[in-house]
Amino acid sequence: MVKTAIFASGNGSNFEHIILDIQNKVVNNFNVALLIVDKENCYALKRAEKLGVKSIFIDPKSFDNKNEYETKIINILKEHNVEFLILAGFMRILGGLLLSEYRNKIINIHPSYLPSFKGSNAIKNAFDSKIDKTGVTIHYVNEELDSGKIIYQEYLTIDKSCTLEDLEEKVHKLEHRIFSRTLDKLFKQ
Ligand code: GAR
Repeated sequence: MVKTAIFASGNGSNFEHIILDIQNKVVNNFNVALLIVDKENCYALKRAEKLGVKSIFIDPKSFDNKNEYETKIINILKEHNVEFLILAGFMRILGGLLLSEYRNKIINIHPSYLPSFKGSNAIKNAFDSKIDKTGVTIHYVNEELDSGKIIYQEYLTIDKSCTLEDLEEKVHKLEHRIFSRTLDKLFKQ
């Protein structure tokens, strides 16, 4: 059983779906020791409370620099014997300390079919570009933004009548369907 921590910054719907899939035994090769957030009032914290998952807000602003912030995170991860980090809507670029401590052990979900539409606002950027398909990518995190080795990705079509809101909903549904299952497969090996 692989011990993970999930990192989130906002809504936390991916976090919740992973936890529900674990609780409902849809997946069984990993567990989530805790949720770490960088935003004090983010909705992911409320979901964690409801789901009975330990959560911690670590305020990046309360540290002098990124190294100190990441040292604090690493200490907490070690206390919980965390082996893998799952980024589920964590809107912060990781620094060298976390990346070297957890090399090839940090996994991110990104709401586009990479390498298209890296960075933030990927769904809107895909929508605005008027292409007929986009997707979701699950990948390892390295020093370059949204460029680590791809673990799994899936396309979805953008119909002509699709609004931005429709597309957001479609992308999130796809994320919720594939994230925990992809992690479970990966951790089984
Ligand atoms: C998800 O769509 C995720 O792919 C995206 O943030 C959303 C978080 O939703 N991540 C990124 O854009 C990372 N660059 P959630 O908080 O409801 O899980």
